[in-house]
Amino acid sequence: MRLKELSLQNYRNIRQADFTPCPELTVICGKNGQGKTNLLEAVWLLTGGKSFRGAKDAELIARDQPFSVLEAETETSDGQQNQIYLTVGGRDTPRPGRTAKRNGVDLGRASALAGSFTAVVFEPGNLSLVKGSPEGRRRFLDAALCQLYPGYLAAWRRYARLLTQKNALLKHYERTPGAAQMLDVFDEELARYGQELTLRRMDYMKRLRPLAIANYRDISQASEGLELVYQPSFGDRGLLETLRESRRADLKAGFSTAGPHREDFTVLLDGQPAKLFASQGQQRSTVLSLKLAEASCAQEITGEHPVMLLDDVLSELDATRQEYLLTRMRQKQTIVTACDSSLFHKTEGELFRMEGGVLEKL
Ligand SMILES: Nc1ncnc2c1ncn2[C@@H]1O[C@H](COP(=O)(O)OP(=O)(O)O)[C@@H](O)[C@H]1O
Ligand SMILES: [Mg+2]
Repeated sequence: MRLKELSLQNYRNIRQADFTPCPELTVICGKNGQGKTNLLEAVWLLTGGKSFRGAKDAELIARDQPFSVLEAETETSDGQQNQIYLTVGGRDTPRPGRTAKRNGVDLGRASALAGSFTAVVFEPGNLSLVKGSPEGRRRFLDAALCQLYPGYLAAWRRYARLLTQKNALLKHYERTPGAAQMLDVFDEELARYGQELTLRRMDYMKRLRPLAIANYRDISQASEGLELVYQPSFGDRGLLETLRESRRADLKAGFSTAGPHREDFTVLLDGQPAKLFASQGQQRSTVLSLKLAEASCAQEITGEHPVMLLDDVLSELDATRQEYLLTRMRQKQTIVTACDSSLFHKTEGELFRMEGGVLEKL
């Protein structure tokens, strides 16, 4: 996969920019707060309209402007070109929210872009994947799956909406007539969509695991072995049975205590939970292994290697890991941001500078 061109208008602090990245390594340098991450976020938005920083519409649109526009040209490895037109409109505009066109065809919601352009983002927040909360690990899997299977996001959204409704009901259980029957209905629906989410995640984990293990072996020169174990919220009897069994606990807690929204995967290093024991270096190696596995996995499933977006992470890695990463990315389009450009003067990458939202090729 390749991004050939991206033009931005009124996107965050970028009034107007035309970005033509290199087919391989492109480096965006600049001081803090200049718009480097904003540019990467705009590239990422092309994968399906979501921000990797979880930003709302109003945050993406340049202050005091009604809407922002992204226009991109992408190319797949077999030479198929796509023109993507994505707008983020404020509430009172004719096209509010995130909408998209592909090759002139109106797709409606930008989430319908999923699959047309794929990328993997690696940012400093990912470094907490090992020691952070289960939510971060679920988000890692969900973000990958949304790009791979357009139906995944739809199932995820329905599940999330049902969950909110069920939780509201659990809170007002005593005061709601017919609440028990309503919970039965919610559980059936939750089981339907939730089971789909869990099965997809487990299937993805099965592919990701051997790739991540091999990466870790390479990075750490086999000093210790990585293992990943997915913990589904239900067993052979299915999610519905588990939800029924959790009813009492749900009522006691006042929220839904079981299901894919509580799942996690365990990271082990030589059999020990990394969450408790991993050193800084081991955490970095693990996250790097997972991110590179995510990219290889996408290539296995779709035949396309996603564009790599590395936000501010190189300076966090030591020289050995930097070199490993950049060697792996050779011949794959990679866009890197960094405060310090000296790192890259030796490489063949193309250099841009971002200053106050203005992008300049060096
Ligand atoms: N909607 C917006 N309108 C105008 N400026 C914005 C908007 N959202 C963020 N910014 C500005 O973008 C800058 C941060 O950009 P960012 O890409 O995160 O910086 P960095 O170069 O450090 O990665 C801040 O100055 C912030 O005020
Ligand atoms: Mg940044």
